[in-house]
Amino acid sequence: MPEHSRQALSDYAVAHTTKPDSIFDDIARDAQTTPSAGMMSGRTVGYFLNTLVAITGAQRVLEIGTFVGYSALMMATALPEDGELITLDVSEEFTSIARKHWARHPDGHKIKLILGPATETLDTLEPQFDVVFIDADKDNYPEYYEKSLNLLSPKGIIVVDNVFQGGRVLQQDVPDDQRSASTRAVQRLNEIVQNDERVNNVMITERDGLLLIRRRDAHLA
Ligand SMILES: C[S@@+](CC[C@H](N)C(=O)[O-])C[C@H]1O[C@@H](n2cnc3c(N)ncnc32)[C@H](O)[C@@H]1O
Repeated sequence: MPEHSRQALSDYAVAHTTKPDSIFDDIARDAQTTPSAGMMSGRTVGYFLNTLVAITGAQRVLEIGTFVGYSALMMATALPEDGELITLDVSEEFTSIARKHWARHPDGHKIKLILGPATETLDTLEPQFDVVFIDADKDNYPEYYEKSLNLLSPKGIIVVDNVFQGGRVLQQDVPDDQRSASTRAVQRLNEIVQNDERVNNVMITERDGLLLIRRRDAHLA
């Protein structure tokens, strides 16, 4: 599909997805003040996650990669009143924007932020999580996947963002030293999951690619 058609369809998808509260526009506006505005998930991925949390009846959610708090708040609004969302990030600067907006939203109290390298924080968390959203530094994706699977509830779902890497995952025959470390790590993750007999997975072509993963033995739980 030509790139302009893909962009047009993406805009069409946004235009046909429920418009969130104005606070999400405020978060998106603040994201633009950072040098990394493109990292924010946005309306379609946000509502996709929100719907997933709602239909699974999730009680506990884990997010790896907070940024300015858009996806965290999207998921938190679908949690029950006593639900909990733990989100991990290394950046005080980005997450101070997130905390400012969560503080003025009625569901913000469900969100707990833990600052520090996620590979280390993940080792300190109590299982189990019903939904895990992996959306931090790509180099660590294979490790995030393995640790998330260990923290997942039997019927839980892992969602991994950016599994297309802007299309660079298609660079299969390019020598290692000509592909970025992030591209190689995401390609490796995609292969690990595809060959992992513990799970079933489905890749979705929305935006920069989402990978949904659930335990194969979930029906026994
Ligand atoms: C793509 S953004 C997250 C976007 C957010 N989930 C959303 O959709 O709005 C990735 C975040 O991962 C954080 N990050 C990068 N390296 C990290 C690490 N080693 N541990 C935890 N977070 C990290 C960055 O600071 C950044 O805020």
